[in-house]
Amino acid sequence: MPGAHIVLGVSGGIAAYKAVLLLRLLRERGHDVRVVPTAGALEFVGKATWEALSGHPVHTSVFEGAAEVEHVMLGRSADLLVVAPATADLLSRAATGRADDLLTATLLTVTCPVLMAPAMHTEMWQHPATVANVATLRARGVHVMDPDSGRLTGQDSGPGRLPEPEALEAAALALLARAEGVAAEPKPAPDLAGRRIVISAGGTREPLDPVRFLGNRSSGRQGVAIAAAAAQRGADVELVAANLAVPAPPGVRVTGVETTAQLRDAVRRAARGADVVVMAAAVADFRPATAPGVKIKKVAGRPPAPIELVENPDILAELVADPPDARTLVVGFAAETGDETGSVLEHGRAKARRKGASLLAVNEVGPAVGFGDVANQVTVLDANGEIVGEASGTKDDVAHGLLDLIASRLGGVGGA
Ligand code: PMT
Repeated sequence: MPGAHIVLGVSGGIAAYKAVLLLRLLRERGHDVRVVPTAGALEFVGKATWEALSGHPVHTSVFEGAAEVEHVMLGRSADLLVVAPATADLLSRAATGRADDLLTATLLTVTCPVLMAPAMHTEMWQHPATVANVATLRARGVHVMDPDSGRLTGQDSGPGRLPEPEALEAAALALLARAEGVAAEPKPAPDLAGRRIVISAGGTREPLDPVRFLGNRSSGRQGVAIAAAAAQRGADVELVAANLAVPAPPGVRVTGVETTAQLRDAVRRAARGADVVVMAAAVADFRPATAPGVKIKKVAGRPPAPIELVENPDILAELVADPPDARTLVVGFAAETGDETGSVLEHGRAKARRKGASLLAVNEVGPAVGFGDVANQVTVLDANGEIVGEASGTKDDVAHGLLDLIASRLGGVGGA
C-alpha cells in the first residue's frame, strides 16, 4: 500500500534517533509520513530534522496550527499511527486518555490501527504501573510491541531496548497490509451487536510445586479465533485467557488466569449478564492434592513420591446447573479421542448428555489433531446429543460456523 498516510509519534527517549531511520525507511517506500514529536522528543532530535525528512511542518501542541484543528485532521486521514519510541510516560498518558499535547490528542482521534514500540529502562518496563498500562492499551486493540533485550542507555542491559528500525518498519507494514486486507474483505454481518459473550481459551496449569505443573496441549487458538470472530460480528467480548500461546485479538477485554480455580472464578464473574458463555478452554479435570511451596527434590536412589490427584470442579456443568444468569446460552467443547469403547462422536454424545450445555462442539484431539496451528472440524450437538450443525476448515472458519449457530439460537439482532 504505497502512499499510505502514516502518523509517526515520537516520545522523549534516547531511542528517538531510531525513529529518524524509521521515518526514512517509510518515506523510501513512498508513504506520506507526518511526524508528531512530544516536547521531550525534541530534546533528543530537533524539529528541523523531522521537517526536512518528512517534508511536513512539525508541531507538538494543539495550539500550533490551531486553525487546521491538526489532531482531528491527522486522526481522520491516518491509515496507521506508529509511536516509536513510546516512553513509560507516553504509555501512561495514552492508557488514561490524556490529551495534553498533539500526539496524545491525535491518539484519541484516530480510528486506524495503532502500533506502539516501547523503550525504557528495564525497571520502568517491568514496573506494575507500566505493565498495567500496556495491558490496558492491548485490551483496547493497540498493538504494543515487546521491547528488545540488550544494551540500554548506560551500562545497564535487559528488556527495554527499542527494536531496530527495520523491525519497526516490518511491524508497521504488516499492520498496514492487514488493515488493507480487512478493508478489502467483505465485513461479516454485525449479527452479534449488543450481545455480551464470554469465551474461555487456552489450557489450565495445575501447580505441582513452584516450578512444575500439570498442563495440556491447548494453544488457545480456537478460543481466540472465536473471540476475534465474535468481536468482528459486533459482540462485546470478554476473553478468559489461560496460558495462551498466541496473542489475544484486538478489541476484546482479557482476563488472564493460570489454574482451573482461577478460570472458574473469572468465568463465573464475567458470565453475570452475559448472553453467551463459550468454554473453549482445555480445563484440567484433576489437580495435585497438594502443591508444596518448595521444589520437589530428586533424592538419589529413592523413587519419586506418587502424585495424588483430586478432582477439579466441572465449570461447564456448573454453569448449566447453576447459571449466574438464567438466560445465558452455555456452549461447550468436547475434546475427544476414539477408543475401543466408542467413536469420537459417541463419546461426544455421552458428554453432551452428561454436561447439558445448549451446544457442545465435538472435536477430535491428539498430538497433531485439534490442538495448535492446524485445521479443525467440529460436530455440534444439543443437550440430547443430537447433531445440530457442523463446521470445518481453519480455526477462524470453525469460529464463524459456531457463531452462526449461536446467533441463530439467540435470534433477532442485538441484546436488550
Ligand atoms: O487451544 P487450541 O490449541 O486451539 O485447541 C483447541 C481445543 C482442542 C482445546 C478446543 O477446540 C477444545 O476442544 N476445547 C475443550 C477442551 C476440553 O477441556 O475438553 P473436555 O472434553 O475435557 O471438556 C468438555 C468441556 O467441559 C469443555 O468445554 C471444557 O472447557 C469444560 N470443562 C472441562 C473440565 C472441567 N473441569 N471443567 C470444564 O468446564
